[in-house]
Amino acid sequence: MTGVNDIRESFLSFFEKQGHTRRASAPLVPQNDPTLLFVNAGMVPFKNIFTGAETPFAPRATTSQKCVRAGGKHNDLDNVGYTARHHTFFEMLGNFSFGDYFKEQAIQYGWNLVTKEFGLDPKRLLVTVYAEDDEAAALWKKIAGLPDDRIIRIATSDNFWSMGDTGPCGPCSEIFYDHGDKIPGGPPGSPDEDGDRFIEIWNLVFMQFDQSADGSRISLPKPSIDTGMGLERIAAVLQGVHNNYEIDLFANLIKAEEDLYGAKAEGDHLASFRVIADHLRTSAFLIADGVLPSNEGRGYVLRRIMRRAMRHGHLLGARAPMMHRLTPALIGEMGKAYPELGRAKAAIESALEQEEGRFQRTLGRGLSLLEEATTGLGAGDALPGETAFRLYDTFGFPLDLTQDILRARGMSVDTDAFDAAMDVQREGSRSAGFTSGDAATDDIWFAVREKSGATKFGGYGATEGQGKLVAIAAGGALVDTLEPGAAELVFDATPFYAESGGQAGDHGEIAFEGGARFIVRDVQKRAGDVHVHVGELVSGSAKLGAVAKLHVDAVRRKAVMANHSATHLLHAALRNVLGEHVTQKGSLVEADRLRFDFSHGAPVTAAQLEAIEDQVNAVIRQNAAAEIKVTTPEKAIEAGALALFGEKYGDEVRVLSMGKGEGKAYSVELCGGIHVERTGDIAVFVITSEGGVSAGVRRIEAATGAEALAYLKGRARIAEDLAESLKVPLKDVPRKVSALADERRALEKDLAEAKRKLAMGGGGSAPTGPEVVNGVNLIARVAEGVGGKDLRALVDEAKAKIGSGVVAFVGVADGKAGVAIGVTADLTSKFSAVDLVKVAAAALGGQGGGGRPDMAQAGGPDASKADEAIAAVKAALAG
Ligand code: ALA
Repeated sequence: MTGVNDIRESFLSFFEKQGHTRRASAPLVPQNDPTLLFVNAGMVPFKNIFTGAETPFAPRATTSQKCVRAGGKHNDLDNVGYTARHHTFFEMLGNFSFGDYFKEQAIQYGWNLVTKEFGLDPKRLLVTVYAEDDEAAALWKKIAGLPDDRIIRIATSDNFWSMGDTGPCGPCSEIFYDHGDKIPGGPPGSPDEDGDRFIEIWNLVFMQFDQSADGSRISLPKPSIDTGMGLERIAAVLQGVHNNYEIDLFANLIKAEEDLYGAKAEGDHLASFRVIADHLRTSAFLIADGVLPSNEGRGYVLRRIMRRAMRHGHLLGARAPMMHRLTPALIGEMGKAYPELGRAKAAIESALEQEEGRFQRTLGRGLSLLEEATTGLGAGDALPGETAFRLYDTFGFPLDLTQDILRARGMSVDTDAFDAAMDVQREGSRSAGFTSGDAATDDIWFAVREKSGATKFGGYGATEGQGKLVAIAAGGALVDTLEPGAAELVFDATPFYAESGGQAGDHGEIAFEGGARFIVRDVQKRAGDVHVHVGELVSGSAKLGAVAKLHVDAVRRKAVMANHSATHLLHAALRNVLGEHVTQKGSLVEADRLRFDFSHGAPVTAAQLEAIEDQVNAVIRQNAAAEIKVTTPEKAIEAGALALFGEKYGDEVRVLSMGKGEGKAYSVELCGGIHVERTGDIAVFVITSEGGVSAGVRRIEAATGAEALAYLKGRARIAEDLAESLKVPLKDVPRKVSALADERRALEKDLAEAKRKLAMGGGGSAPTGPEVVNGVNLIARVAEGVGGKDLRALVDEAKAKIGSGVVAFVGVADGKAGVAIGVTADLTSKFSAVDLVKVAAAALGGQGGGGRPDMAQAGGPDASKADEAIAAVKAALAG
């Protein structure tokens, strides 16, 4: 039997032998396309090549591309686990022609591969073509010798492929495998085509058009080929099984699950095993490509997938995090073809474990709520949307998780009501979502790239250089003359670093030969490797082709370099101190600070921060040379260099090694940024803050060199000023401050006691002389500086002493007044404290008041009316 790994390899090497360049899969998070959720087809990384915006790296290519279909146009999440062929993650095998060969050759290769290389019986194969595509039909007849009844014309969008609402597209032709008449189902295009007998195994797309957002299509510069064969499907055919989840890869993963959960993959449990196997792959690959679970965007899709799998783990009996323990089995199956999995092992395990732990804290209570809410409901009924929303909002149940649970009982969710509840929470402001469509790419910079090529960057060892002006953009369009004002410039060569890898773009000045001066405030990379200098022309003018001297602000650059190198040392120190699960989640390197986001499940303790700071400073003091080696990404990673998860590196990479570690350099990382020559150039490193960014992601901010010194000196000055005003030596400040705090607490206590005594009539004796009003004993006083519960305590005390009567205290503090009135129990049938307090509150300009007949309290805004309030109470008693 041929295993999945062999099938992948034989596809790729078949096309390699036919002159195709083999490329590693692109990361799952689309590069250069912020609006597309995930790469969902083999052609996505080549989109700009098909449209002509980018020059092809080779005329032909072949890949096995990681794909995720969960969200957007191509979304298979709901079906996973319950059907034979749906996955959220799958591998798409493909061959591509970038304007090289077209239909005939594509069909020839396709037929040869399936019948010769894979040895499928031609009698079991049939194909579909787009209804109007006579040429494709004729070619299938000529090349494969297929009879007309096995070349089926399809008029629908099934045979016209597009990646989204916009982008490259074209008619397609699909190859189907007939599993035989033992399985129900009809051929494509027939009424019972949805049966399982005829299975599509390969889609050949004849790319011919670029579709715009308005639906119109223009021809591509050159007709091209894009094909997609689902590896899991072809493996099922070649391994003689009917269900993708029975191929060797899944069988092995499911075996590992059986061992872990101690249950058998059969009966009611089967779907759970399959869901976990599928979602494990998706989760691990997404984490290895830099996605972490969160509450929005890609992170939320990942969270939904993880939690769905974890709920199925719960069905299998998991009551503590378990899913992470499947990571080694997955790496065993797929780690050779996708080495990024092995590199991200610690990160995958830690993200899975944390998420499962987090979810298990609310899962049980959420399930009970769902149980209660569904009592009385039966098959065909819908759970109220408000309940589904509560499960989402309070118990972390994504909507599709609730739907998945209800599915087994034939119930659904009232999604309209769920959406309405969600809208209310978001107050109508839905966050800008992702679409599966195409990004509006920066067309003008692709045009510049096509015409003038990549910018030659000469800034690694220099801050000065010369360049020829090759493009000027002003007001969003390309122009020929540079006039005073804001503009964006491109030169054939530049020493200016363009923002990338977290390092900010250089600042500086450009002096044209004719005398014109341009101030550079930022530099950005566009169309891959075009350095766009953003700034303002302050004098003169210049035309395209003008030659200029380019000066980078060297002082600022030096500070940025120190911060960038320190970021690498910080990354290494974090991994040493906190563990290998720490991976970079983002960084920002500017002249005055550096910021580093990383995956870690808990706040970093003060002791850990100190250890990290100490390690970095120790490497700085080594004053070791920073070494740069240029090599291929594969070699660098093999040698242990840290690479960013999900980053796509070019054919050549720079590897930076710094400092002496145990048996190897302290830090080794792939990096295109600019760095110090020796670690001592960083001078000093200090962490200025640590905090959380989102679940599982922490952020450290730090400073180096002069900024670090300024930060430390600033703190020292505060301490010295403190010592001076406390009139003690610096070292005694902590002791003095804590003594002062104790003293203050004692004084506050004494003061409260004194005020209380004063209010009670002074001297601590019984309140002197209650007046008698209308035959009732009354103590009524204004108490300065007493409020809230102290006022109540006073009333209680006075009531106890008076025996029988009414007590009223108006407390005046901070310009506001409060009144508390007590009535002894024997009198509550005659006077209610609540009524009296309302009278007093009204006099104080307030309203209301509340309590019980024997004790009530109210507030009033006007403290100057305290005496009136007392008078009002007396008047009320007097009747
Ligand atoms: N891009 C084509 C597909 O995804 C091959 O089916």
